[in-house]
Amino acid sequence: MNKENKLVLAIETSCDETAAAVVRNGREVLSNVISSQIELHKLYGGVVPEIASRKHIEKINQVITEALSTANVTLDDIDAIGVTYGPGLVGALLVGVAEAKAISYAKKIDLVGVHHIGGHISANYIEHPDLKPPFMCLVVSGGHTHLIKVKDYGEYEIIGRTRDDAAGEAFDKVARAIGLGYPGGPKIDQLSKEGNPEAIKFPRAHIDDNENDFSFSGVKSAVLNYINSCQMKGIEINKADIAASFQMAVVDVLVSRAIHATKKFNMDKLAIAGGVASNATLRNAMQIACETNGLKFYHPSPIFCTDNAAMIGVAAYYEYEKGVRHGLDLNAVPNLKFE
Ligand code: KG4
Ligand code: ZN
Repeated sequence: MNKENKLVLAIETSCDETAAAVVRNGREVLSNVISSQIELHKLYGGVVPEIASRKHIEKINQVITEALSTANVTLDDIDAIGVTYGPGLVGALLVGVAEAKAISYAKKIDLVGVHHIGGHISANYIEHPDLKPPFMCLVVSGGHTHLIKVKDYGEYEIIGRTRDDAAGEAFDKVARAIGLGYPGGPKIDQLSKEGNPEAIKFPRAHIDDNENDFSFSGVKSAVLNYINSCQMKGIEINKADIAASFQMAVVDVLVSRAIHATKKFNMDKLAIAGGVASNATLRNAMQIACETNGLKFYHPSPIFCTDNAAMIGVAAYYEYEKGVRHGLDLNAVPNLKFE
Protein backbone atom coordinates (compact mmCIF):
# COMPACT_ATOMS: atom_id res chain seq x y z
CA MET A 1 0.00 0.00 0.00
CA ASN A 2 1.42 3.41 -0.87
CA LYS A 3 1.54 5.47 2.30
CA GLU A 4 2.26 8.97 1.14
CA ASN A 5 -0.37 9.12 -1.51
CA LYS A 6 -3.64 7.58 -0.51
CA LEU A 7 -6.01 7.07 -3.38
CA VAL A 8 -9.74 6.65 -2.99
CA LEU A 9 -11.97 5.38 -5.77
CA ALA A 10 -15.42 6.83 -5.08
CA ILE A 11 -18.82 5.77 -6.38
CA GLU A 12 -22.10 7.76 -6.19
CA THR A 13 -25.44 6.45 -7.46
CA SER A 14 -27.98 7.77 -4.93
CA CYS A 15 -30.28 9.51 -7.43
CA ASP A 16 -29.98 10.20 -11.16
CA GLU A 17 -26.25 10.64 -11.70
CA THR A 18 -23.96 7.64 -12.18
CA ALA A 19 -20.64 8.96 -10.91
CA ALA A 20 -17.12 7.76 -10.12
CA ALA A 21 -13.98 9.67 -9.14
CA VAL A 22 -10.42 9.18 -7.98
CA VAL A 23 -9.27 11.45 -5.15
CA ARG A 24 -5.71 11.74 -3.79
CA ASN A 25 -5.14 12.44 -0.09
CA GLY A 26 -8.66 13.70 0.40
CA ARG A 27 -8.19 16.98 -1.41
CA GLU A 28 -6.96 16.43 -4.93
CA VAL A 29 -9.44 15.26 -7.56
CA LEU A 30 -7.64 13.19 -10.21
CA SER A 31 -10.84 12.40 -12.08
CA ASN A 32 -14.55 13.14 -11.70
CA VAL A 33 -16.79 11.32 -14.16
CA ILE A 34 -20.55 11.98 -14.12
CA SER A 35 -23.05 10.29 -16.39
CA SER A 36 -26.27 12.24 -16.00
CA GLN A 37 -29.69 10.70 -16.62
CA ILE A 38 -31.47 14.08 -16.67
CA GLU A 39 -32.46 13.88 -20.34
CA LEU A 40 -34.21 10.58 -19.68
CA HIS A 41 -36.14 11.68 -16.57
CA LYS A 42 -37.09 15.02 -18.14
CA LEU A 43 -39.67 13.16 -20.22
CA TYR A 44 -41.53 12.28 -17.00
CA GLY A 45 -41.09 15.59 -15.16
CA GLY A 46 -38.98 14.02 -12.39
CA VAL A 47 -36.78 11.08 -11.45
CA VAL A 48 -38.38 7.67 -12.11
CA PRO A 49 -36.68 5.33 -9.58
CA GLU A 50 -36.92 2.15 -11.67
CA ILE A 51 -35.40 3.84 -14.71
CA ALA A 52 -32.66 5.34 -12.53
CA SER A 53 -31.63 1.89 -11.20
CA ARG A 54 -31.54 0.33 -14.66
CA LYS A 55 -29.47 3.17 -16.10
CA HIS A 56 -27.00 2.96 -13.20
CA ILE A 57 -26.48 -0.75 -13.95
CA GLU A 58 -25.86 0.03 -17.62
CA LYS A 59 -23.37 2.83 -16.94
CA ILE A 60 -21.52 2.01 -13.73
CA ASN A 61 -18.67 -0.11 -15.13
CA GLN A 62 -18.02 2.32 -17.96
CA VAL A 63 -17.97 5.30 -15.58
CA ILE A 64 -15.53 3.58 -13.18
CA THR A 65 -13.23 2.53 -16.03
CA GLU A 66 -13.17 6.12 -17.28
CA ALA A 67 -12.50 7.51 -13.79
CA LEU A 68 -9.51 5.18 -13.38
CA SER A 69 -8.08 5.84 -16.83
CA THR A 70 -8.48 9.63 -16.60
CA ALA A 71 -6.67 9.52 -13.25
CA ASN A 72 -4.03 7.34 -14.92
CA VAL A 73 -4.28 4.65 -12.24
CA THR A 74 -5.49 1.06 -11.99
CA LEU A 75 -7.40 -0.71 -9.22
CA ASP A 76 -4.03 -1.95 -7.91
CA ASP A 77 -3.16 1.65 -6.95
CA ILE A 78 -6.37 2.23 -5.00
CA ASP A 79 -6.24 2.19 -1.16
CA ALA A 80 -9.95 2.48 -0.41
CA ILE A 81 -13.31 2.42 -2.16
CA GLY A 82 -15.78 5.03 -0.94
CA VAL A 83 -19.42 4.60 -1.78
CA THR A 84 -22.65 6.43 -0.95
CA TYR A 85 -24.88 4.01 0.96
CA GLY A 86 -27.66 6.47 1.86
CA PRO A 87 -29.86 8.41 1.87
CA GLY A 88 -31.34 8.13 -1.61
CA LEU A 89 -33.37 5.87 -3.86
CA VAL A 90 -32.90 2.30 -2.64
CA GLY A 91 -32.60 0.68 -6.08
CA ALA A 92 -30.17 3.36 -7.22
CA LEU A 93 -28.02 3.15 -4.08
CA LEU A 94 -27.90 -0.65 -4.34
CA VAL A 95 -26.14 -0.50 -7.70
CA GLY A 96 -23.26 1.56 -6.31
CA VAL A 97 -23.03 -0.41 -3.07
CA ALA A 98 -23.04 -3.79 -4.87
CA GLU A 99 -20.39 -2.56 -7.31
CA ALA A 100 -18.17 -1.21 -4.51
CA LYS A 101 -18.48 -4.46 -2.55
CA ALA A 102 -17.66 -6.56 -5.62
CA ILE A 103 -14.48 -4.56 -6.33
CA SER A 104 -13.53 -4.55 -2.64
CA TYR A 105 -13.90 -8.34 -2.46
CA ALA A 106 -12.22 -9.15 -5.76
CA LYS A 107 -9.25 -6.81 -5.29
CA LYS A 108 -9.05 -6.88 -1.47
CA ILE A 109 -9.44 -3.12 -1.19
CA ASP A 110 -10.84 -1.50 1.99
CA LEU A 111 -14.47 -0.43 1.76
CA VAL A 112 -15.82 2.81 3.28
CA GLY A 113 -19.54 3.64 3.19
CA VAL A 114 -20.32 7.36 3.04
CA HIS A 115 -23.38 9.42 4.00
CA HIS A 116 -24.48 11.47 0.97
CA ILE A 117 -24.79 14.70 2.99
CA GLY A 118 -21.33 14.25 4.49
CA GLY A 119 -20.20 14.04 0.87
CA HIS A 120 -21.91 17.31 -0.10
CA ILE A 121 -20.29 19.13 2.84
CA SER A 122 -16.86 17.65 2.00
CA ALA A 123 -17.07 19.09 -1.53
CA ASN A 124 -15.91 22.34 0.08
CA TYR A 125 -12.49 20.85 0.87
CA ILE A 126 -11.67 20.22 -2.79
CA GLU A 127 -10.94 23.79 -3.86
CA HIS A 128 -10.18 25.33 -0.47
CA PRO A 129 -6.95 23.89 0.95
CA ASP A 130 -7.23 26.36 3.85
CA LEU A 131 -10.68 25.16 4.95
CA LYS A 132 -10.61 23.05 8.09
CA PRO A 133 -13.32 22.37 10.67
CA PRO A 134 -14.90 23.85 12.68
CA PHE A 135 -17.26 25.77 10.41
CA MET A 136 -20.97 26.21 9.75
CA CYS A 137 -22.44 24.62 6.63
CA LEU A 138 -25.77 25.24 4.93
CA VAL A 139 -26.71 22.12 2.98
CA VAL A 140 -29.35 22.85 0.35
CA SER A 141 -30.22 20.02 -2.02
CA GLY A 142 -33.24 18.34 -3.57
CA GLY A 143 -33.89 16.32 -0.41
CA HIS A 144 -32.27 18.33 2.40
CA THR A 145 -32.11 21.81 3.87
CA HIS A 146 -29.90 21.60 6.95
CA LEU A 147 -27.80 24.00 8.98
CA ILE A 148 -24.92 21.90 10.23
CA LYS A 149 -22.10 22.55 12.66
CA VAL A 150 -19.06 20.79 11.21
CA LYS A 151 -17.18 20.08 14.44
CA ASP A 152 -14.42 18.00 12.86
CA TYR A 153 -13.93 15.91 9.72
CA GLY A 154 -16.98 13.65 9.59
CA GLU A 155 -18.35 15.02 12.88
CA TYR A 156 -21.57 16.91 12.49
CA GLU A 157 -24.35 18.44 14.54
CA ILE A 158 -27.58 19.46 12.86
CA ILE A 159 -28.77 22.71 14.39
CA GLY A 160 -31.60 23.49 11.97
CA ARG A 161 -33.59 21.81 9.25
CA THR A 162 -36.64 22.28 7.05
CA ARG A 163 -39.99 21.43 8.57
CA ASP A 164 -41.51 20.58 5.18
CA ASP A 165 -40.09 20.93 1.65
CA ALA A 166 -36.36 21.03 0.96
CA ALA A 167 -35.16 24.19 -0.83
CA GLY A 168 -34.41 22.29 -4.07
CA GLU A 169 -37.79 20.60 -3.92
CA ALA A 170 -39.47 24.04 -3.74
CA PHE A 171 -37.44 25.20 -6.77
CA ASP A 172 -38.48 22.07 -8.69
CA LYS A 173 -42.19 22.43 -7.78
CA VAL A 174 -42.36 26.14 -8.63
CA ALA A 175 -40.53 25.50 -11.92
CA ARG A 176 -43.10 22.86 -12.82
CA ALA A 177 -45.96 25.25 -11.97
CA ILE A 178 -44.64 27.88 -14.36
CA GLY A 179 -43.94 25.29 -17.04
CA LEU A 180 -40.13 25.20 -16.93
CA GLY A 181 -39.78 21.43 -16.59
CA TYR A 182 -37.28 19.27 -14.69
CA PRO A 183 -34.89 19.93 -13.00
CA GLY A 184 -36.31 23.28 -12.01
CA GLY A 185 -33.50 24.83 -9.96
CA PRO A 186 -31.12 25.66 -12.82
CA LYS A 187 -34.03 26.88 -14.99
CA ILE A 188 -35.32 29.27 -12.32
CA ASP A 189 -31.74 30.43 -11.75
CA GLN A 190 -31.47 31.23 -15.46
CA LEU A 191 -34.92 32.74 -16.08
CA SER A 192 -34.77 34.93 -12.96
CA LYS A 193 -31.96 36.94 -14.60
CA GLU A 194 -34.64 38.45 -16.86
CA GLY A 195 -37.10 39.10 -14.03
CA ASN A 196 -37.60 41.62 -11.23
CA PRO A 197 -37.04 40.08 -7.77
CA GLU A 198 -39.14 42.85 -6.21
CA ALA A 199 -42.11 42.38 -8.55
CA ILE A 200 -44.15 40.10 -6.28
CA LYS A 201 -43.81 39.97 -2.51
CA PHE A 202 -43.81 36.29 -1.56
CA PRO A 203 -43.74 35.34 2.16
CA ARG A 204 -40.55 34.65 4.14
CA ALA A 205 -41.40 31.97 6.69
CA HIS A 206 -40.27 32.41 10.28
CA ILE A 207 -40.35 29.47 12.63
CA ASP A 208 -41.02 30.70 16.14
CA ASP A 209 -39.70 27.80 18.23
CA ASN A 210 -36.39 27.32 16.40
CA GLU A 211 -34.83 30.26 14.63
CA ASN A 212 -32.49 27.90 12.75
CA ASP A 213 -35.28 25.89 11.11
CA PHE A 214 -36.75 26.48 7.65
CA SER A 215 -40.10 26.11 5.90
CA PHE A 216 -40.61 26.40 2.17
CA SER A 217 -44.10 25.00 1.63
CA GLY A 218 -45.64 28.44 2.40
CA VAL A 219 -43.73 30.28 -0.31
CA LYS A 220 -44.40 27.45 -2.75
CA SER A 221 -48.16 27.62 -2.04
CA ALA A 222 -48.06 31.42 -2.33
CA VAL A 223 -46.59 31.09 -5.83
CA LEU A 224 -49.24 28.52 -6.83
CA ASN A 225 -52.02 30.76 -5.43
CA TYR A 226 -50.61 33.77 -7.25
CA ILE A 227 -50.61 31.86 -10.57
CA ASN A 228 -54.18 30.62 -9.98
CA SER A 229 -55.49 34.06 -9.13
CA CYS A 230 -53.87 35.56 -12.24
CA GLN A 231 -55.42 32.84 -14.37
CA MET A 232 -58.87 33.43 -12.84
CA LYS A 233 -58.61 37.16 -13.51
CA GLY A 234 -57.36 36.50 -17.05
CA ILE A 235 -54.05 38.25 -16.33
CA GLU A 236 -51.07 36.85 -18.19
CA ILE A 237 -48.31 35.82 -15.77
CA ASN A 238 -44.76 37.08 -16.09
CA LYS A 239 -42.73 33.90 -15.56
CA ALA A 240 -39.41 35.69 -15.16
CA ASP A 241 -40.82 37.96 -12.43
CA ILE A 242 -42.32 34.98 -10.60
CA ALA A 243 -39.02 33.06 -10.84
CA ALA A 244 -36.97 36.04 -9.62
CA SER A 245 -39.37 36.95 -6.79
CA PHE A 246 -39.70 33.34 -5.58
CA GLN A 247 -35.94 32.85 -5.71
CA MET A 248 -35.36 36.05 -3.75
CA ALA A 249 -37.81 34.95 -1.04
CA VAL A 250 -35.96 31.62 -0.64
CA VAL A 251 -32.49 33.18 -0.79
CA ASP A 252 -33.41 35.87 1.78
CA VAL A 253 -34.38 33.23 4.32
CA LEU A 254 -31.40 30.96 3.60
CA VAL A 255 -28.91 33.81 3.92
CA SER A 256 -30.35 35.43 7.06
CA ARG A 257 -30.68 32.10 8.93
CA ALA A 258 -27.23 30.88 7.94
CA ILE A 259 -25.52 34.13 8.95
CA HIS A 260 -27.43 34.32 12.21
CA ALA A 261 -26.53 30.72 13.13
CA THR A 262 -22.85 31.14 12.24
CA LYS A 263 -22.56 34.15 14.52
CA LYS A 264 -24.65 32.62 17.29
CA PHE A 265 -22.36 29.59 17.45
CA ASN A 266 -19.28 31.87 17.41
CA MET A 267 -17.96 30.58 14.12
CA ASP A 268 -16.09 32.65 11.57
CA LYS A 269 -16.49 30.41 8.52
CA LEU A 270 -19.65 29.64 6.57
CA ALA A 271 -19.83 27.11 3.74
CA ILE A 272 -22.67 26.10 1.45
CA ALA A 273 -23.22 22.73 -0.21
CA GLY A 274 -25.72 20.72 -2.28
CA GLY A 275 -27.36 21.31 -5.68
CA VAL A 276 -29.00 24.63 -4.70
CA ALA A 277 -25.58 25.94 -3.61
CA SER A 278 -24.81 26.36 -7.32
CA ASN A 279 -27.53 29.04 -7.52
CA ALA A 280 -25.96 32.32 -8.61
CA THR A 281 -28.26 34.59 -6.59
CA LEU A 282 -27.70 32.56 -3.41
CA ARG A 283 -23.92 32.62 -3.90
CA ASN A 284 -23.84 36.38 -4.48
CA ALA A 285 -26.15 37.20 -1.60
CA MET A 286 -24.22 34.93 0.77
CA GLN A 287 -20.89 36.43 -0.33
CA ILE A 288 -22.10 39.95 0.39
CA ALA A 289 -23.69 39.01 3.72
CA CYS A 290 -20.52 37.21 4.84
CA GLU A 291 -18.38 40.22 3.94
CA THR A 292 -20.73 42.54 5.84
CA ASN A 293 -20.61 40.29 8.90
CA GLY A 294 -16.87 39.58 8.85
CA LEU A 295 -17.28 35.88 8.00
CA LYS A 296 -15.22 33.86 5.54
CA PHE A 297 -17.41 32.35 2.85
CA TYR A 298 -16.76 29.01 1.13
CA HIS A 299 -18.59 27.38 -1.76
CA PRO A 300 -17.70 24.58 -4.16
CA SER A 301 -17.70 25.12 -7.94
CA PRO A 302 -21.12 24.24 -9.40
CA ILE A 303 -19.88 20.85 -10.68
CA PHE A 304 -19.05 19.85 -7.08
CA CYS A 305 -22.38 21.21 -5.72
CA THR A 306 -24.70 18.90 -7.64
CA ASP A 307 -24.28 15.14 -7.18
CA ASN A 308 -20.78 13.87 -7.97
CA ALA A 309 -18.39 11.19 -6.73
CA ALA A 310 -15.40 13.45 -6.00
CA MET A 311 -17.16 14.75 -2.88
CA ILE A 312 -17.80 11.14 -1.79
CA GLY A 313 -14.09 10.39 -2.27
CA VAL A 314 -13.16 13.33 -0.02
CA ALA A 315 -15.58 12.26 2.74
CA ALA A 316 -14.43 8.63 2.42
CA TYR A 317 -10.77 9.66 2.78
CA TYR A 318 -11.37 11.35 6.13
CA GLU A 319 -13.43 8.38 7.37
CA TYR A 320 -10.69 6.02 6.18
CA GLU A 321 -8.05 8.04 8.04
CA LYS A 322 -10.14 7.69 11.20
CA GLY A 323 -10.10 3.91 10.75
CA VAL A 324 -13.64 3.44 9.45
CA ARG A 325 -13.99 0.23 7.39
CA HIS A 326 -17.18 -1.43 6.23
CA GLY A 327 -17.69 -5.14 5.67
CA LEU A 328 -19.37 -6.92 2.81
CA ASP A 329 -22.60 -6.71 4.78
CA LEU A 330 -22.78 -2.97 3.95
CA ASN A 331 -26.28 -2.30 2.66
CA ALA A 332 -28.10 0.58 0.97
CA VAL A 333 -30.06 2.60 3.57
CA PRO A 334 -32.57 4.84 1.74
CA ASN A 335 -33.44 6.91 4.84
CA LEU A 336 -29.98 6.88 6.44
CA LYS A 337 -29.88 9.28 9.38
CA PHE A 338 -27.24 11.95 9.79
CA GLU A 339 -24.94 12.64 12.83
O1 KG4 B 1 -27.52 17.87 -4.44
P1 KG4 B 1 -28.36 17.54 -5.61
O2 KG4 B 1 -27.70 17.40 -6.95
O3 KG4 B 1 -29.14 16.21 -5.36
C1 KG4 B 1 -29.69 15.89 -4.10
O4 KG4 B 1 -28.92 15.36 -3.26
O5 KG4 B 1 -30.87 16.20 -3.91
O6 KG4 B 1 -29.49 18.66 -5.66
C2 KG4 B 1 -30.48 18.65 -6.65
C3 KG4 B 1 -31.36 19.85 -6.41
C4 KG4 B 1 -32.57 19.89 -7.34
O7 KG4 B 1 -33.70 20.20 -6.58
C5 KG4 B 1 -32.21 21.03 -8.31
O8 KG4 B 1 -33.34 21.70 -8.84
C6 KG4 B 1 -31.41 21.93 -7.39
O9 KG4 B 1 -30.63 21.06 -6.61
N1 KG4 B 1 -30.53 22.84 -8.15
C7 KG4 B 1 -30.63 24.19 -8.14
C8 KG4 B 1 -29.65 24.67 -9.04
N2 KG4 B 1 -28.98 23.60 -9.55
C9 KG4 B 1 -29.53 22.48 -9.00
N3 KG4 B 1 -31.46 25.00 -7.47
C10 KG4 B 1 -31.33 26.32 -7.67
N4 KG4 B 1 -30.43 26.87 -8.53
C11 KG4 B 1 -29.58 26.09 -9.22
N5 KG4 B 1 -28.68 26.64 -10.06
ZN1 ZN C 1 -27.08 15.30 -3.49
